[in-house]
Amino acid sequence: MRITIAIDGYSACGKSTLAKALAAKIGYAYVDSGAMYRAVTLYCMRNKLIHEGSFDTAEVLAHLENINLSFKYNPATKSSDTFLNGENVEREIRKMEVSAQVSRISVVKEVRDKMCAIQRRLGKDKGVVMDGRDIGTHIFPDAELKIFMTADPEVRTQRRLDELTAKGTHVSFDEVRKNLDQRDHEDTHRKESPLRQANDAIVLDNSELSKEEQLEFVLKLVKQRDS
Ligand code: CDP
Repeated sequence: MRITIAIDGYSACGKSTLAKALAAKIGYAYVDSGAMYRAVTLYCMRNKLIHEGSFDTAEVLAHLENINLSFKYNPATKSSDTFLNGENVEREIRKMEVSAQVSRISVVKEVRDKMCAIQRRLGKDKGVVMDGRDIGTHIFPDAELKIFMTADPEVRTQRRLDELTAKGTHVSFDEVRKNLDQRDHEDTHRKESPLRQANDAIVLDNSELSKEEQLEFVLKLVKQRDS
């Protein structure tokens, strides 16, 4: 039996690394819901809808129907690239400029509703691992397996810094830490489907776990549920 696996948690705690590895191991699709919010944010930035960190919600909503998101499997990375109106924006959406704005755009109810519809469509046949902030609480409240990931903020900052450095982006530890703190605050305090642990989620603190140990932990849980 194919199940639905929801992985939620704080910024940069390794959700997508784990979700991607898990999906590849069990032959499920992997969906990165954060990439969708990042792509919408990139659209808003490119179209000058965000001015010095603030925006007019009505203006963003007027553009919403012009934002077309699609996803295409990339064999090199073994996961899907995100396309914004036909353009591959996978690299651009990971940049710090986008990270700095995304949690503001992701509070908008209509933006969330649009992403929710896409995410539910992508997961309708089960056999999916989806990561984000509200997957177990809002998108798939009936998911058979829900993981809530967390890790020490210092560890998370270092991991994200290493990731950005490997991609050629040079930022300071403090800048990354500030961004993670700010997003965690905004994501947990917003009105629309805030980040919170679902009652039936299993907590995974991976501060001191290797990638292999995390995968092993989750694989055991999957086995218990899909037999
Ligand atoms: O990779 P990282 O943990 O840094 O973030 P992400 O998963 O790419 O998500 C970027 C941002 O999108 C989050 O900080 C949230 O503001 C928003 N998001 C959301 O509101 N709901 C989701 N299901 C996924 C992401």
